[in-house]
Amino acid sequence: MNNYEPVLIHTVAEMRAYAADARARGEQTGLVPTMGALHEGHLSLIRLAKAENDIVVVSVFVNPIQFDDPIDLTTYPKTLRTDVESSFGVGTDVVFAPSAEEMYPAGFSTHIDMTGVSEKLCGASRASHFRGVLTVVGKLFGICMPDFAYFGEKDAQQLAVVRKMAAELCMNVTIRGCPTIREEDGLAMSSRNARLAEDERLAARCLNRALEAASALFETGETSPDALISAITGVVESEPLARVDYVKIVDPLSFEAVADARKGDLMALAVYIGDIRLIDNRRLG
Ligand code: PAJ
Repeated sequence: MNNYEPVLIHTVAEMRAYAADARARGEQTGLVPTMGALHEGHLSLIRLAKAENDIVVVSVFVNPIQFDDPIDLTTYPKTLRTDVESSFGVGTDVVFAPSAEEMYPAGFSTHIDMTGVSEKLCGASRASHFRGVLTVVGKLFGICMPDFAYFGEKDAQQLAVVRKMAAELCMNVTIRGCPTIREEDGLAMSSRNARLAEDERLAARCLNRALEAASALFETGETSPDALISAITGVVESEPLARVDYVKIVDPLSFEAVADARKGDLMALAVYIGDIRLIDNRRLG
C-alpha cells in the first residue's frame, strides 16, 4: 500500500519519468496491459497486481496494429472515463492511456515477430494479430519498466507468446498468468460481450458448454482429439447463431495439436456469434 494520488497519464515521456522515479525509490511495479472497457476479468488482474507490488500501472490502449478487421477496431468499446474510475477503485496508481499517434508516431517501423506458436490458432485465423500484440506489449514494457506483468489465461495463446517473448528477448519482467473470470452462466468475461444482442448473448453460452461437454467426455476415458473436438463442435453447431472458427486440442506451450489428449492439454476454440468473434479455453483433467 502507498499514499500516492492516482494519476492518469497520456504521454510516453510522462509515463517513462513516473516509472523511472518509482524505480529510483526502489519500488516494485506491476503492469496490467488492457484495451479498456474494463470488466471483472481485468479487475481481477489489477487486484492481484496490487497485492504483489508497490505501484500498479494499468494501460488502456486499443492497439490498432493487432486488429485485422477494421470494423472490429472501430466498434471496439471505448469507455476511458469509467475505466479510470473502476481501476482507481481497486487500487491502481497510474492509468496510462496514450493515443495511437503517441504510441505509433509517423515513421514508426519496428515490430516484434514470432514464428511457431504465434502462427497457430488465433495466429492462423488473424494473420498479423500476435505481431501487433507483441509489439505493443514489448513497447509497454519499455515505457513502464514493470517488474511483474499480468495476463489472463482466457487469452491462453497470448499469455504463452508474451512469456516466450519476455524470456527470449531477456526482458527484465516476470509474466504472471491469472485465471479466467466468468459470468454466472459460464461465459468468459470479455469486452466484446458488450456488443452481443440479447439472443446472441444467450447463444454465446455455447462456448463454455462445449468445453464442459468435452471435459466430461475426457473424464470417461476418451483421449482421441478428434472425438473431443467433435463433442465441442457438436455443441457449438447446435446453436444457430454460432459459427466455429477453430477448435483444437493442443500442447499448452507449443500450441501444436496433440495426437493423444492428456491431462493438462489445452482445449481452445474461437466462435463467431453473429459477426462477433469470441474465444475460450480449458485445460483437460
Ligand atoms: P484485453 O482484451 O483488454 O485484455 C487485457 C487482459 O485482461 C489480458 O491479459 C486478458 O487475458 C485479460 N482478461 C480478459 N478477459 C478476462 C477474463 N474473463 N478473465 C481473466 N482475464 C481476462 O488482451 C488484450 O487486451 C490485448 O491484447 C493487450 C494484451 C492489452 C495488448 O494490446
